[in-house]
Amino acid sequence: MRKLTTVLVAAMAATLLPAMAVAASDDVISVGFAQVGHESDWRTASTKSCQDVFSTENGYDLSFVDCDNDEAAQKEAVRSFIEQDVDYIIIDPIIATGWDTVLTECEDAGIPVIVIDRTIDDSDKYAAWVGSNFMTEGLAAGEWLKAYADAQGIDELNILTISGSTGSSAQIGRSDGFNEVAEKYGWNLLDEQTGDFTEAGGQEVMENYCKSYEGQFNVVVCQNDNEAFGAMTAMDNAGVTYGPGNDVILISYDACTAGLEDVKAGKISADFECNPLAAPFVEEVIKTIASGEEPEKEVYMVEHWYALPDQIVDFEINGEPQEMTEVTDEVIEAQY
Ligand code: AHR
Repeated sequence: MRKLTTVLVAAMAATLLPAMAVAASDDVISVGFAQVGHESDWRTASTKSCQDVFSTENGYDLSFVDCDNDEAAQKEAVRSFIEQDVDYIIIDPIIATGWDTVLTECEDAGIPVIVIDRTIDDSDKYAAWVGSNFMTEGLAAGEWLKAYADAQGIDELNILTISGSTGSSAQIGRSDGFNEVAEKYGWNLLDEQTGDFTEAGGQEVMENYCKSYEGQFNVVVCQNDNEAFGAMTAMDNAGVTYGPGNDVILISYDACTAGLEDVKAGKISADFECNPLAAPFVEEVIKTIASGEEPEKEVYMVEHWYALPDQIVDFEINGEPQEMTEVTDEVIEAQY
């Protein structure tokens, strides 16, 4: 079981922390980054965060590989970084398991690995991980739904989920968290199929759902905003209305700019943030290692839960009261 060791005010600090060069001298620090792919707005922001921090002017030589959601290509990328003998390797693991062999190879080569965003669940041969608590995101979405449905007098919830890439820790955590709440309150989980975190995937799954479950559902949970964009197109085409006061309560994760615009427009009822701006914290880990100290093993990004005032309700996660953030133009402007 993962232990929370450090919580940083990531959203603020991501903008406040200067992207300082780690190199005290003229030494260039080489970093290999095996990125998941380019499937979502979130991913674009994550890539940009790393490219901004690990830039030439900040004293880095960044080798960036977009692995296009291909697990084998991601392991190959890591091995190519070992071949290049880079100073540090960053991995955002496409799926949570199957990592021990290649991490052992990194260890044998003496190259510290920093894992970002998603977790590796079957090996601890990495120096540090910086990312999100996906289970908490799922619990938040579930407990919000309970409080909101109660406030609206809705006592029967028939739920369709469009999940993220199967086997990724983002999918596992969000499904586990939300389904735990659903089970607790006896909700009807009609179906859960993957949209692979893409808009096209979300649209395709929702098109099928609209046919198979016509008139039978009143909640759609999309495990990221891009899937929600696709799901909205499919519901528009099928004549299903969504958003506050309509046929379907639409829940999403990520809270990217376009997602929050859809909250503001009354399309998405609540959006649960996943914060992609981890790179400044990864740089802190590298500086700690470079100074000969041991970094924190786990660094959690701070995340917010977003809605319009009429959808802001009081709820708790395991007895801990949660704050929700109202979506305003300023909030949208400041988002990634
Ligand atoms: O791992 C983070 C998830 O992956 C984000 O929710 C999603 O948008 C991305 O593709």
